[in-house]
Amino acid sequence: MIVFNKENRVFTLHTRNTTYQMKADWHNILLHTYYGPRVSGGDLSYLIQYADRGFSPNPNEVGDKRDYSLDTLPQEYSSCGVGDFRIPSIEFEPEDGSRLADLRYAGHELYRGKYKLEGLPAFWGGQEWETLVICMKDAAAKMSVELYYGVLEEKDLITRAVRVVNQGIGAVRLQRCASLCLDFQGDDFDLITFDGCHTMERCPNRAPLRPGIQSVNSLRGTSSHHHNPFVILCNHGAGEDYGLCYGAMLVYSGNFHATAERTQLENNRLVLGIDPYNFCFTLAPGESFTAPEAALICSPNGFGQMSRQFHRALREHLIRDPCKGERRPVLMNNWEATYFDFTADKLVEIAEGTQGLGIELFVMDDGWFGSRDTDLSGLGDWSVNLEKLPGGLEALVPRVQALGMKFGLWIEPEMVSENSRLYREHPDWALGVPGRPQARGRSQLVLDFSRREVRDSIYEAVRRVLDSADISYIKWDMNRSLSDVWSAALPANRQGEVYHRYVLGVYDILERLRQDYPNLLIESCSGGGGRFDAGMLYYTPQIWCSDNTDAIDRLRIQYGTSFCYPVSAIGAHVSASPNEQNGRVTSIETRGAAAMSGAFGYEMDLSRCTPEEREIIRRQTAFFKEHYDLIQRGDYYRLSDPFADPHTAWEQVSPDRREALVTLISGPTRAAAPFRRLRLKGLDPALRYTVNGQGAYPGDVLMEAGWPLPIPRGDYQSMQLYLSAL
Ligand code: DGJ
Repeated sequence: MIVFNKENRVFTLHTRNTTYQMKADWHNILLHTYYGPRVSGGDLSYLIQYADRGFSPNPNEVGDKRDYSLDTLPQEYSSCGVGDFRIPSIEFEPEDGSRLADLRYAGHELYRGKYKLEGLPAFWGGQEWETLVICMKDAAAKMSVELYYGVLEEKDLITRAVRVVNQGIGAVRLQRCASLCLDFQGDDFDLITFDGCHTMERCPNRAPLRPGIQSVNSLRGTSSHHHNPFVILCNHGAGEDYGLCYGAMLVYSGNFHATAERTQLENNRLVLGIDPYNFCFTLAPGESFTAPEAALICSPNGFGQMSRQFHRALREHLIRDPCKGERRPVLMNNWEATYFDFTADKLVEIAEGTQGLGIELFVMDDGWFGSRDTDLSGLGDWSVNLEKLPGGLEALVPRVQALGMKFGLWIEPEMVSENSRLYREHPDWALGVPGRPQARGRSQLVLDFSRREVRDSIYEAVRRVLDSADISYIKWDMNRSLSDVWSAALPANRQGEVYHRYVLGVYDILERLRQDYPNLLIESCSGGGGRFDAGMLYYTPQIWCSDNTDAIDRLRIQYGTSFCYPVSAIGAHVSASPNEQNGRVTSIETRGAAAMSGAFGYEMDLSRCTPEEREIIRRQTAFFKEHYDLIQRGDYYRLSDPFADPHTAWEQVSPDRREALVTLISGPTRAAAPFRRLRLKGLDPALRYTVNGQGAYPGDVLMEAGWPLPIPRGDYQSMQLYLSAL
């Protein structure tokens, strides 16, 4: 619910459990007054403290009123160069070369429903949303800055976006445009970021904010393996089930920064948006720029509640799932089974090996096109390699379908190999500055997706492939970071637009795919989890979580990922043991238990499994299908922290709390292992539950007293408990 109090010009945004408030003050400065647990309302600006602080200047119109300074007051969207020396939200340069932004409230609009952002991913929905648009103006530069707020009350979600319009008569260079600024006058916070590298993504790191600026970002052109565009600010004592925390997410897949600042007065600011590095949009008179959407959830009850609200909001109001509430297929991917070394017959042999195991989709990974026998060549030539696949997809797909499976394939449309027909014909289609040899990544170059003709040509090639056979799924991969970012299609003074235009180009082609192939399931991937963000989830309902398929490393990766992203978004496969990435040996049971809390599949030659393993796999897929709704759409509870605890445990609970699934994977074994209990969460204390079909255990007992952990005999054992209310 959004309430506007006309008299004191206070905007109050209520969600079910939280309240967010701002006020246009007597100087038309938009002050942030409160964000936290839901309160009844009123004008909370009495909380704001005014004091004269040395070297904190005062706006000209306040005269000698030295206690009024933009440098100390909590701003809703911080200005630039006019007296607030904290992180600016916006920077622009009109023709006079100044770089000042003095934003003042100039009006607002309120309506039911959710605003849309053209060409950008955004949360969606109908009348359950309310929108507030606050118009800010810099009178001297004639720039208007519209602050968009979407309120999804039930999910505690507040979205934000920003649109800047040049209302002057000269060109303006926009050099920074954050999506979100959040000021807190007071409060001590920890900042949690989700960091890592290729094959070890989204590991949480937590540290108290210290004086100055702390930031994570990506300058890789993608959101990156290295930092995620999702961060948490929380009280020092906050944990899974208690304490105040704020999750902030950017719905964007390119360069970003999440910057927190602890100021001279021990106040805190968070700014989230496109990283200003090599970002500059020239706006002609009348032109506008829209910054990507950001989303906020505040939880007064710890990280668990915040995550569950993000999961619900993403599942129900961001992800557009072509399976529309139906179950997504259990898949088999040939990558780790064959790498590039396959033929049609070998693939069919592997597909035959999945017979009777409950696999529903066969995915042919990299290596089926052009001259792609290694990763040194072929990208860009999206036509079937007829030596490997005689008769093309027209011949192969029916053979796989005859085995009772759908067919899917891998593509990497944003890339080109120098050893390809496409590159020989269009060398200028790759990003790069003429006269400067580009850096290669995985021996490949990046196509300039900011250019329409490049996208059109690739899209037509992809369409020809998709139209040549009955293809139900694609895995859209992207295997390097952007470098040499320069486009032959833009003049020198507009090269600062290329990074963002590239991302818009990716979104454009993904949207076209969605429109033209509404039933196509797309899994995105960037060497695993290099572009795991809400922007991609808007177009692709699942993302390959990591190139690391080791079940035990995955426990940490999936744990970190779960703070923001739902199980249904997390591509997870059972692969061979010893594991290809780290050589670890784990049982098929453990690998299955870890992978089925994700968009589930197998990535190994199943025909090589022993009869006992095949029987276990058959039971795994049957179990997964039987409990699909619970696993994929249930409320997710982290029961332990795999970075702190040798055991990893988590739980999914059905919305009516009548069913739950607990999964536990133990760590390295030891003699004289201590006796331990696992306290369950989210159950109905008044109900009695059977556990794996046995007994009648009261919910309150299972939550307060817990369940005894089995004493592991061997490393990395798994246990699954299915609870059903009597
Ligand atoms: C990187 C992906 O993450 C892998 O799963 C696989 O598809 C390879 N690329 C293929 O080149």
